Amino acid sequence: MKSVSQFLSLTLLLTSLLMTSCNSKKETTEQKPVIEKAPYGQLPDGQTADLYTLQNASGMTAQITNYGGIIVSLTAPDKNGKFEDVTLGQDSLSAYVKNNPYFGALIGRYGNRIAKGKFTLDGKTYSLFINNMGNHLHGGKVGFDKVLWKATPIEGEEPALKLSYTAKDGEEGYPGNLSVEVTYTLQKDNALKIDYQATTDKPTVVNLTNHTYFNLTGGAKRDILDHVVTLNADKFIPVDKTLIPTGKLEPVANSPFDFTKPMVVGSRINDSTNTQIKYGGGYDHGWVLNGSGDSLKLAATVYEPTSGRVMEVRTTEPAIQFYTGNFLDGTVTGREGFPYKKRYALCLETEHYPDSPNQPSFPTTVLRPGQTYKTTTIYQFSTRKE
Ligand code: GLA
Repeated sequence: MKSVSQFLSLTLLLTSLLMTSCNSKKETTEQKPVIEKAPYGQLPDGQTADLYTLQNASGMTAQITNYGGIIVSLTAPDKNGKFEDVTLGQDSLSAYVKNNPYFGALIGRYGNRIAKGKFTLDGKTYSLFINNMGNHLHGGKVGFDKVLWKATPIEGEEPALKLSYTAKDGEEGYPGNLSVEVTYTLQKDNALKIDYQATTDKPTVVNLTNHTYFNLTGGAKRDILDHVVTLNADKFIPVDKTLIPTGKLEPVANSPFDFTKPMVVGSRINDSTNTQIKYGGGYDHGWVLNGSGDSLKLAATVYEPTSGRVMEVRTTEPAIQFYTGNFLDGTVTGREGFPYKKRYALCLETEHYPDSPNQPSFPTTVLRPGQTYKTTTIYQFSTRKE
């Protein structure tokens, strides 16, 4: 009798030990999705900003502040499962306020350039702030990247952060009170989804995007010239020397702009015999995405061979601005004081074509009362072993 009960308790003990070890094993691979809020600092006008940390079940994290809707960091696993930050970012709110070349930020009311800061809508001409080679860039002096958004955290299996901001009629010269909502969702399939929505009370122009600088080495170990990029685009948008579209679209075939097949970024980036490369100081152009309509389509794939990280970009937008960090010069330092030098990151800004308000042949960016502007972009991370 005694030996039977001894046997039973031994079995129970072993079973419970086994279960504990299974559970703890599970805990290390699967985590509870969370969204946490912490104070991030005070802005010069006294308002305070917060920092939200979203984490999905596999351990991927996104840190987002409601100042400028900036993605402060975004981690993704390498081929050995090591999570590292794949974006450029600064180490404090005050650093972002002092000088931020749009790292991680939401861009609006109009992403990219409007020629000479002027456009005419319904017979009325509007003047915007000139901040880039005689043109208006990324929404002006105080664009959506420099305002405080109202934040609403959304808990769940896929944690999300909803940001809202209403730009006033006349703000930065644009007509109409524009109510904007941007929702960041950290999906369980290691993707960051960004949903944009806007409505207006007067006819206006809108082109919203996010300006994250990516470096898939993790922790920006070196420049992005070895990254391999594919763009789902047969045509691109040539520009003049102030980076304003000429109005014509050009085939990419037989040029350094042909990323229809995977191409190492550095292979033709310095081809100074190409005028467009010369004007951009490298790549700083819009590519016209193949496929019609506003359905979600694969726009870009980026592969970094040493880490094995892959990023796929899907969007409902008609174009993507591929910018290779040509203006970075080491003056802006990142976390731990590390200087971000030329071409230390690449941006893939999904959007409408630059200067559309002045280009009748481009898809329209006009938004009228009663209409809802709605776009979605997804940055998804995976790995490849080669
Ligand atoms: C965009 C523009 C670039 C540059 C960066 C920010 O990508 O196209 O020319 O202004 O933003 O530095």
